[in-house]
Amino acid sequence: MKILVFDEEKKLDAYVGETICDFIRQHDQATIGFATGSTPLGVYQYFIDSYQNHKVSFQNVQAFNLDEYVGLKPEHPRSFASAMKNELFSHIDILPENINALDGSKEDMDEECQRYETLIEQNPIDIQILGIGMDGHIAYNEPGSPLDGACHVVNLHQESIESSLDYGFDHIEDVPTQGVTQGIGTIMKAKQLIMMAKGEKKADLVKRMIYGEVTPDFPSSIIQRHPSVIVCLDRNAASQLK
Ligand code: F6R
Repeated sequence: MKILVFDEEKKLDAYVGETICDFIRQHDQATIGFATGSTPLGVYQYFIDSYQNHKVSFQNVQAFNLDEYVGLKPEHPRSFASAMKNELFSHIDILPENINALDGSKEDMDEECQRYETLIEQNPIDIQILGIGMDGHIAYNEPGSPLDGACHVVNLHQESIESSLDYGFDHIEDVPTQGVTQGIGTIMKAKQLIMMAKGEKKADLVKRMIYGEVTPDFPSSIIQRHPSVIVCLDRNAASQLK
């Protein structure tokens, strides 16, 4: 595991952004896994700036979103599909048919999970961007999730529901209580993981993720077992590390 600490958020975003742009430039096809949430937004802005300045094209990129709310159609303004579109995809030249996501509005969610798991098996993810949730989750794998799990529906924990208020929901009652997510096993098949964390509120979580026991009780701890992972932290998120 490579741990990088940046003294400025902008430098962290530029490092992650440039690492991925470099990969895209050097490969005929690149398959990138995208996380929603606030942490990667600066990286997504870096992609948009790089595209607008003709430094990278996303035409050869296949995108896979990590997770979604159950019960929201992809076009719902609060869906993760809409968030990714608004924050990134509608500003770059990625081909719409290359954007892949779990659809949380399907009647048969088991079938939807199987479809997405198979699609990822057929298009292995080269680089997966990750963030850490306030209960230690990765994607929407909440504490207790199996460490080898595939795509599945999950009951969201209270911390995750409360965190969703940062994503534009006006009332807590409006936040879906279930999510659908790539499993930990799915995520671990990505060839490289880039885990990002920013801010003091993530400091204890980051310490546990890196030095704690690898356990389903703290799903992000699984990254310790991945052969190729870069953890990118700002100074505050790194403040509890030795
Ligand atoms: C979202 C996702 C989540 C977030 C995590 C951190 O697709 O996978 O695991 O990465 O909840 O969210 P932020 O970045 O908002 O702190």
